[in-house]
Amino acid sequence: MPAHWRTYPDRDALMAAAAEEIERRARAAIASQGMATIALSGGSTPRPAYEALARADLPWANVRFLLVDERFVPVSSEASNERMLRDALAPALAAGATLLPMYADGASLDDAAARADAAYAPLNIDVALMGMGGDGHTASWFPGAPRLAEALDPNTARAVVSQIAPDAQGSAERLTLTLPAIARAGAVLLLITSEDKRAVLERALATHDAPVAALFGRDAPVEVLWAA
Ligand code: 6PG
Repeated sequence: MPAHWRTYPDRDALMAAAAEEIERRARAAIASQGMATIALSGGSTPRPAYEALARADLPWANVRFLLVDERFVPVSSEASNERMLRDALAPALAAGATLLPMYADGASLDDAAARADAAYAPLNIDVALMGMGGDGHTASWFPGAPRLAEALDPNTARAVVSQIAPDAQGSAERLTLTLPAIARAGAVLLLITSEDKRAVLERALATHDAPVAALFGRDAPVEVLWAA
């Protein structure tokens, strides 16, 4: 269960380092295969890193953004992860980067999951930026969620599935990347802040009692980026 911890003196340094790491990996992907595919989490913590990333001097037409997970709400909703990403990444998107939505207007939750899966499954993620909640969820893998096993099934061919998570912020109905979709990413970064979240993660790694621990089953190490 390899984890590499990188500790930063403060959140500004953490956000700058996360942006630089994503940029470095995107540049390498573009150099080797012409295109970079970057999967980004929602929530509130990583936004400054995304804003910093969008200021980077990358050939943005060669960059494709995916969501790690989405609340099942229209982009007009304050809770939409796509909305937050479009806002934070605006300069990159204006310069030609693309963002593939998970949410689909007018579709049912399961139809939207099937459509997002069709768009996402053929793509190889070069770098995935994960977050974590205080309950030990990552992506939309919530502890005790009734369909959690579908998201964590190591043999699923799906890249995106739906989830119902009654205690989740923004919307109980969710769309999320599956464990195999993230496990095969070129790099997985887990960006967390606060002593509390550090303790939650350390406990999850020791006891496997929270979904975030599933991230660490992959062969390559997960880079944990942390500041108080
Ligand atoms: C979401 C997320 C989620 C997030 C964690 C942490 O839609 O809620 O993508 O998995 O990464 O909940 O969120 P915060 O950064 O807001 O604490």
